[in-house]
Amino acid sequence: MSQTGIELPEALEIPARGWLRGLFDRSAPDLAGQMDAAVAAVRSSRRPEYVAVFGGKGGAGKTTTSTGIGSMLAAVMRDRVAVVDSNPDKGTLRLKFPKGQSALPLQQLAGRTEVLHSYSDLRPYLLSNDLGLDALTSTRHRDTTSDGPVYAEILDFLTADYRVVVADCGTSATSDVAREVLARATQLVVVTPAQIDGFYALLETLDELVDMRRSKLLGDAVAVINGIHESTSVDVDKIHADLKRRVRAVRRIPHDPLLAAGAAFDFGQLQPGTKVAYAELAATVTARFR
Ligand SMILES: Nc1ncnc2c1ncn2[C@@H]1O[C@H](COP(=O)(O)OP(=O)(O)O)[C@@H](O)[C@H]1O
Ligand SMILES: [Mg+2]
Repeated sequence: MSQTGIELPEALEIPARGWLRGLFDRSAPDLAGQMDAAVAAVRSSRRPEYVAVFGGKGGAGKTTTSTGIGSMLAAVMRDRVAVVDSNPDKGTLRLKFPKGQSALPLQQLAGRTEVLHSYSDLRPYLLSNDLGLDALTSTRHRDTTSDGPVYAEILDFLTADYRVVVADCGTSATSDVAREVLARATQLVVVTPAQIDGFYALLETLDELVDMRRSKLLGDAVAVINGIHESTSVDVDKIHADLKRRVRAVRRIPHDPLLAAGAAFDFGQLQPGTKVAYAELAATVTARFR
């Protein structure tokens, strides 16, 4: 069993190559090749990638998806990957990380970035998981009128140490935080739960992006249908088809008992099908890395 215990289905079986070897017991030609090429491209470019994750409503799975994508990328890339709590409301990102850690909120980092010179100076502000993903979390006890400048400073500062920054955003594309994220976003991921109301709520967020003239980013986005229960009565194929008309790719994440419990995101404990789904989602995101 590999470090993360990922197992891909028989149909996808080929020997994993290079950097994938540690992660996958067996891997797929398309998945391995796609991620390999994308990761090489990220390494050769000196520009950071910003992956903005939005959803239509609370509980859609934005934070879980952000953590899942970030964890997969951290595991397969030799560069650092961070996820940033970019939800203007109450963010729950810290709950997705192993217990027993504490970190200063990113608001305390703002205004101090000029005196931080190395990654170790940043450590007091970071949570980490065993796949190597770092997180910067936010505090509710803040002056939200300074969200814009605070996030602008932090997001730019992170590019010195991180090659990929995943922003766990909220439901609105027009908040001050969202505007700073969108000004930098190179990739968009949009999340709907496998529920009708959550899907319609996401469509409203997508309309906001169109109104903001971000149609190109949206057309190149990856949509996630999250938490699909085997026994669901929802017509997931219809949601899938509707989303596919608006975005580049649609990926499905199954309902997973570990995630349903709302505990930390422990990749090794996920169901095999969920692990594969996150690997495929991350591969799809990396396909557009510059
Ligand atoms: N694929 C899934 N299967 C089961 N439960 C999930 C799944 N994805 C997320 N959850 C759970 O649903 C709840 C809401 O997810 P979260 O990512 O926090 O949503 P959001 O950030 O959009 O508010 C959390 O308890 C989370 O653990
Ligand atoms: Mg959230």
